[in-house]
Amino acid sequence: MPPPERKNLTEPEAKEFIRRYGITTPRGAVVSALEGAVEKANTLGYPIVLKVVSRDILHKSEVGGVESGLKNETALRQAWTEMLMNIADKAAEARVEGFLIEEMAPAGLETIVGGFRDEKFGGVVMFGVGGVWVEAIKDVSYALAPVSQAEALEMMKELKGWPILCGWRAEQYDIEAVKEAIVKISSVISETEIRELEINPLIVYKSGVMAVDARVAF
Ligand SMILES: Nc1ncnc2c1ncn2[C@@H]1O[C@H](COP(=O)(O)OP(=O)(O)OP(=O)(O)O)[C@@H](O)[C@H]1O
Ligand SMILES: [Mg+2]
Repeated sequence: MPPPERKNLTEPEAKEFIRRYGITTPRGAVVSALEGAVEKANTLGYPIVLKVVSRDILHKSEVGGVESGLKNETALRQAWTEMLMNIADKAAEARVEGFLIEEMAPAGLETIVGGFRDEKFGGVVMFGVGGVWVEAIKDVSYALAPVSQAEALEMMKELKGWPILCGWRAEQYDIEAVKEAIVKISSVISETEIRELEINPLIVYKSGVMAVDARVAF
């Protein structure tokens, strides 16, 4: 029997999904035309981020589908044109459903929280520090879902990056909020039909966390 077909949510759909579980995401909207993008950016206020919305594109930056830190309308118009060319060039087959205009999340500590369903073990939750570098340095910990608050804290402590989370050079990070995010994602994995979920990055601040990118597959 062939494996069941995967269904990916788009980034805005995935973000709407995790918001229902109480995870904060940047404010934003999906637009289909440049004039709508300009209008939305004016409402949100610059700087903004422009991203391609397509369930066929898993890694948007790889195809030139993320432009962040756009400071004004001129920059937005230019990024829009470039993005259309990038997609036509690098992801010509992808179904594009629109473009996401989003507020810029402030800088913070980039972490990753994810979950997946393992055939043997069932729901698994993972956490790592390092955002885009996480794949390169492989500093991640795993636990069976669901996890308690105490288990989520253990997952954090297992990381080489734990001292960074604890506050390196007087930076302070909201450990409680990270713990809650891990617990929430672990319960999503154990309570729903989701096969895979990844928040990369989950940006951690002195107070609170924000999911800047999310991917969900059923
Ligand atoms: N709203 C935002 N505010 C600030 N920075 C952002 C925002 N959206 C994206 N970024 C930055 O741009 C990077 C790439 O964006 P995003 O994670 O959405 O794209 P991606 O290429 O699909 O990611 P992945 O690495 O998971 O494939 C993020 O890791 C983050 O550093
Ligand atoms: Mg990402």
